[in-house]
Amino acid sequence: MTLQRSLVLIKPDGVQRGLSGEIIKRIEQTGLKIIAIKMVWVDKNFAKNHYFDVGARHGEKVLKSLVDYLTEGPVIAICFEGVDTIAVIRKIAGSTYPNEALPGTIRGDFAHISKNYANTNDRKVGNLIHASANEEDAQKELKLWFSIDEMHSYKRSDENHLI
Ligand code: RTP
Ligand code: MG
Repeated sequence: MTLQRSLVLIKPDGVQRGLSGEIIKRIEQTGLKIIAIKMVWVDKNFAKNHYFDVGARHGEKVLKSLVDYLTEGPVIAICFEGVDTIAVIRKIAGSTYPNEALPGTIRGDFAHISKNYANTNDRKVGNLIHASANEEDAQKELKLWFSIDEMHSYKRSDENHLI
């Protein structure tokens, strides 16, 4: 059985708005297992390492706003493990721009800003959660955020029904 891991960050707006429990609940209730979790306040250098490809994909202005966003307060970093974990969490998170994210998703239910509004008003795209985009990114990100001894192996009591 090959299980997959993904990194989730509850971004500073999620933590500051008291949505951490709600966000974790939505992912955890699918059966995906938390195997590492911690609160960290990262610096700009660390944020740039995490979003290593955002400058190339979205431009330097977006990267700067994103680095400011990720460092504006502590984040909660979580490693989830399960079946098809990366796609399942991206589905629960919803589209990048909250105005486009469907109801029932984290970004659709708790935010509404658009890309256009953010970029014409010098606002961040506050979208509450980061979720690894693919296997390669997940592996790189998990290495950056967690050491081996912070990752734990245990059985969930409902595992027989889930995987
Ligand atoms: P994330 O990496 O945080 O999970 O978000 P994502 O995959 O859905 O989107 P991505 O393209 O990787 O962008 C990373 C984050 O950058 C901010 N962003 N701002 N102002 C803009 O036009 C803009 N575009 C993207 C968002 O916070 C996005 O989550
Ligand atoms: Mg991304």
